[in-house]
Order: sequence, then structure tokens, then C-alpha cells
Amino acid sequence: MKSSLIKTSDGSYTIYSKKYSQNFHNTKDGALSESLNKHIIPSFAYHKNKKTLNILDICFGLGYNSLATIYYIIKSDLDISVNIYSPELDIKLIRSLKDFIYPKEFDIFKDMIIQLSQNLKYKDKRCSITIYNQDAREYISNCDIKFDIVYQDPFSSDVNHSLWTKEYFGLIKHILNDDAIITTYAISTPIRLSLYFNNLYIYEYKSPQTLKQTIAFTKKQTNLPKEYKYIDMELKQQRNPLAKPLLDILT
Ligand SMILES: C[S@@+](CC[C@H](N)C(=O)[O-])C[C@H]1O[C@@H](n2cnc3c(N)ncnc32)[C@H](O)[C@@H]1O
Repeated sequence: MKSSLIKTSDGSYTIYSKKYSQNFHNTKDGALSESLNKHIIPSFAYHKNKKTLNILDICFGLGYNSLATIYYIIKSDLDISVNIYSPELDIKLIRSLKDFIYPKEFDIFKDMIIQLSQNLKYKDKRCSITIYNQDAREYISNCDIKFDIVYQDPFSSDVNHSLWTKEYFGLIKHILNDDAIITTYAISTPIRLSLYFNNLYIYEYKSPQTLKQTIAFTKKQTNLPKEYKYIDMELKQQRNPLAKPLLDILT
């Protein structure tokens, strides 16, 4: 099924998926800006003292989150190496990426994008990226890597339900390091409950450049910047007893 090209507010392009009836990015935030401000900057600020990071990028799509990660490391001159693992169902999309119009910030990644689109792999001294052409849940269920960062960036739960449920985040929790961060654009209470019922700590975050979002941590945080607001999910449930997490089986 064909997808159409859309220019977003920061000038970078995304696509509209006819299969899922959704854009790959929020056009108001901008594709590159959303990647950097919602996923990469908060994750790297949190892990500023680590020298190696394992990152789970759910799902690869156009690859903005993976590519912007490497861009951010180079631009900020960080002494850090990353291993990025990313499931993606749509192999035709991956094959087409060598012809996608990426922002000029990604011009230095021409060779990387060609290798990823042909071999689903790229490696140099600073980073490795591996795309797994399979269902994300299948990948997570069989994965024996421990992750420091999860970019939780599938389509929304009405069309990608299996990647937002309590059971799904249970599988994710299993492959997290004990100081991990999960970044996502989603802000609904059912999704926050799906995370919370896996003993994750829920925060609302708003960068100056993007809409508000959710960030979940494996540990309760004591020293976050003022842009973070702790969400007391127990209190939320007391105030709204009908609020439930998303479950695999729709009730
Ligand atoms: C919102 S887009 C990802 C955006 C991505 N971060 C980017 O920069 O383009 C969602 C992607 O998830 C893929 N997808 C949907 N369901 C999936 C599943 N169950 N397992 C793996 N990939 C899936 C779609 O093919 C699509 O490329």
C-alpha cells in the first residue's frame, strides 16, 4: 500500500500510512524535532554518565529516532557508543529508505542509510544499528539484551493495540536494565496504567519545542528538572476507578 510524503513544521518530511491511517510523526512537532526533543535529548540527559547504551527503537519506520540518535551524539561531541536494535514489519518501507528525502542534518548518513536499507545493519566505531524484520512483540519475547533506553514510538493504540498493553510492557520490563528510561508521545491514562502496572514510574514531560508526553523510569526519580511532573497513578485510579490499563484481550 502506498504512503504519501508530508512536510512537517520543522521542514523535515514524514509519511502518511494508508494502512494505519496515520502519519509517522506529529506534523506540529516536526519529524526531526519530535525525535530529538521527545526521545533522544531526555534519554541522553538521563544517562549522561554512561559510556555505552543499548537502545530499543520501537519501531524503525523511517528511522528518524535511530538516525537522530547518532546525529545528536556527533553534534554534541559525546564520548559514548550506542547499540540500537529496532524491529520493523514493513520490509518494503526499509528497502525504500535509500530514496527518502531526509533532513539535511542526515546528509552525513547517506552510506549508513543505504547499508540499512539493503542489509538491515550498520556498524562503525561509535554505533551499531540492527533492524529486525519481524513483529516487535516476537522480537521482544526472544530478546536476551538488556536495554537502557526504549523509544516507544509505534502508531497509536487504536491501530497498534498489541504494542501498548499491560502484557506488552511486561515483556519490555523483562529486558530493561535496572535504571532504564522509556520515552513516548502517548499521554492517555490507560497507556500510563499499562506502564504503571509493570512497576514503572510515570512522569509527564514537556520540552519547549514539543507537545507534552510521557516518560517512564524503572526507578522513582528524585532529581529531575522542573519540566518533569510525577504522575501519581494510584491517586489517578482512586479518582477514576473506571480507568483501566489496555489489555491484550479486549474486554
Ligand atoms: C509511527 S511509525 C514509526 C516511526 C519511526 N519512529 C520513524 O522515525 O519513522 C510505526 C512503524 O511501526 C511499524 N509496525 C507496526 N506494527 C508493527 C509491529 N507489530 N511490529 C513491528 N513493526 C510494526 C510500521 O510498519 C511503521 O513503520
